[in-house]
Amino acid sequence: MKRKIAVFASGNGSNFEAIAKACADGKINAEIALCVTDNPGAYVVERAKRFNVPVIKFRPKDYASKKDFETMLLGHLREKGVELICLAGYMRIVGETLLEAYGGRIVNIHPSLLPAFRGADAIGQAMDYGVKIFGVSIHYVDSSLDGGKIIAQAAVEYDGNDRDELESLVHAREHVLYPATVARLVDSLP
Ligand code: GAR
Repeated sequence: MKRKIAVFASGNGSNFEAIAKACADGKINAEIALCVTDNPGAYVVERAKRFNVPVIKFRPKDYASKKDFETMLLGHLREKGVELICLAGYMRIVGETLLEAYGGRIVNIHPSLLPAFRGADAIGQAMDYGVKIFGVSIHYVDSSLDGGKIIAQAAVEYDGNDRDELESLVHAREHVLYPATVARLVDSLP
């Protein structure tokens, strides 16, 4: 029996696609029951259509509070029987409504070797710092920004100054590490 996961994304959705493909190929014993985006114009919506994954699009500013939109999301997640939430470029701190309902079952990917370079544009932050070993982290989500216990990490060595080249290297690593990690997490769901 396939497990049910949700993927939350705000932008391009390349990690969504990597997970969706791994589900379709049977490498993750799950189906993406829901794609959630806080950015209705995001490219992830097109990708979700291609994989026949239902999408919940919302605009946070249409809600009085984070609690209000997370309560709406929770309704959809429960209706679909979602067991694990994977944040994939969801550029928003998860609030207590979702954390209380899905505590320990929300994970995130971040393009740095955490705890270094939390927050937006981690790759740019690391480049500005002169870092030579970049990387990717997957971690449990708590109420902090890119905090929470680390589940998996991979290093990406790069000693150049071509931002596009570095980004492609980091993303390529993400697209391998995230599906493999989600596969493990799905297998360990109770
Ligand atoms: C990814 O690089 C992910 O690690 C990052 O957003 C990108 C989303 O790309 N997440 C964060 O920075 C979280 N703080 P994608 O939309 O192509 O998957």
